[in-house]
Amino acid sequence: KPYRIAVIAGDGIGKEVVPEGLRVLEMAAKKHGVAVHFDQFDFASWDYYEKHGEMMPEDWKEKIGKHDAIYFGAVGWPAKIPDHISLWGSLIKFRREFDQYVNLRPVRLMPGVPSPLANRKPGDIDFWVVRENTEGEYSSVGGRMFPGTEREFVIQETIMTRTGVDRILKFAFDLAQSRPKKHLTSATKSNGISITMPYWDERVEAMAKAYPKVKWDKYHIDILTANFVLHPDWFDVVVGSNLFGDILSDLGPACTGTIGIAPSGNINPEGNFPSVFEPVHGSAPDIAGQGIANPIGMIWSGAMMLEHLGEKPAAAAIVTAIERTLGERTLRTRDLGGNADTTACGKAVAEMVE
Ligand code: NAI
Ligand code: MG
Repeated sequence: KPYRIAVIAGDGIGKEVVPEGLRVLEMAAKKHGVAVHFDQFDFASWDYYEKHGEMMPEDWKEKIGKHDAIYFGAVGWPAKIPDHISLWGSLIKFRREFDQYVNLRPVRLMPGVPSPLANRKPGDIDFWVVRENTEGEYSSVGGRMFPGTEREFVIQETIMTRTGVDRILKFAFDLAQSRPKKHLTSATKSNGISITMPYWDERVEAMAKAYPKVKWDKYHIDILTANFVLHPDWFDVVVGSNLFGDILSDLGPACTGTIGIAPSGNINPEGNFPSVFEPVHGSAPDIAGQGIANPIGMIWSGAMMLEHLGEKPAAAAIVTAIERTLGERTLRTRDLGGNADTTACGKAVAEMVE
């Protein structure tokens, strides 16, 4: 039975990079005997909003909720529609309604990609950032009192549930245990945030007992960000709350080069709902329509999707093809100093898939 993938291209360069991602996925599926069926959807885009006055149809959950995964380009067209309507009307709904409590991003220095960090070569930087994606600091509990007066004040609460903290830690420990280094780092700030962060630390310690083979440590978020830049080779799996994970999952990929190659997964590990795989970048209105966007973030997201589905050899074949294409330095998009267009780059990666 083929995997059923819902494909949503969205806005801007999403529409340009998704076809290249599909090209490479189809090649990897063919070469590794994986049966995949793609269903394309036009919602979660400005075009759809213009026609229907909303970002998604009423029955969007029935349309895509039974698929094995969602392959997503990018959403957002600020010149036409404010981001809080477009993103909250689509992507954020997926994350919440499909309980995608893991946000997963690799931080990996690829061959042929200049790192902004000095003296680093491929192999030196290779770790994962695991971000809690549903609770923590990003709650809507709080309020504003006495607006506009001298007495004005605002409060916003952090929510950490035992279930919510334990399930993200379990995912991170499982991931660490599956890797050769078996090393987990927890982001904390229990010296300043004196109630929730000590609780987080406590749950890390409790979870660690179930993973005797995993070495673990913790850093306060301030020094941890410094160490991402100074000692990226120290890390293997880094887990953080929603806010800390958000910061780390942008900082990490920034340490390894262009945003155009960074992939991500919004994952519901139990598979009760489909997970979303998407590049880290947005719709890039400044370069949209020119055919010059780097498709590698989208393509690599496809590899993460195959990995999530359990198709490891096909996933690895895509990552290797990306490494070879970047390493040969012949076909590179403008953000990497080349002059290849989106399609040429996508075709080059597809041809490298073994
Ligand atoms: P952006 O990621 O779209 O672009 C930032 C900069 O990086 C731009 O200069 C762009 O040209 C460049 N860039 C991005 N992807 C590239 C690629 N594949 N190849 C070459 N260059 C690339 O972020 P921005 O401009 O802040 O947001 C634009 C829209 O996208 C907004 O509506 C924003 O809300 C939305 N957005 C959506 C995301 C999503 O769908 N997950 C994530 C981030 C932003
Ligand atoms: Mg962010």
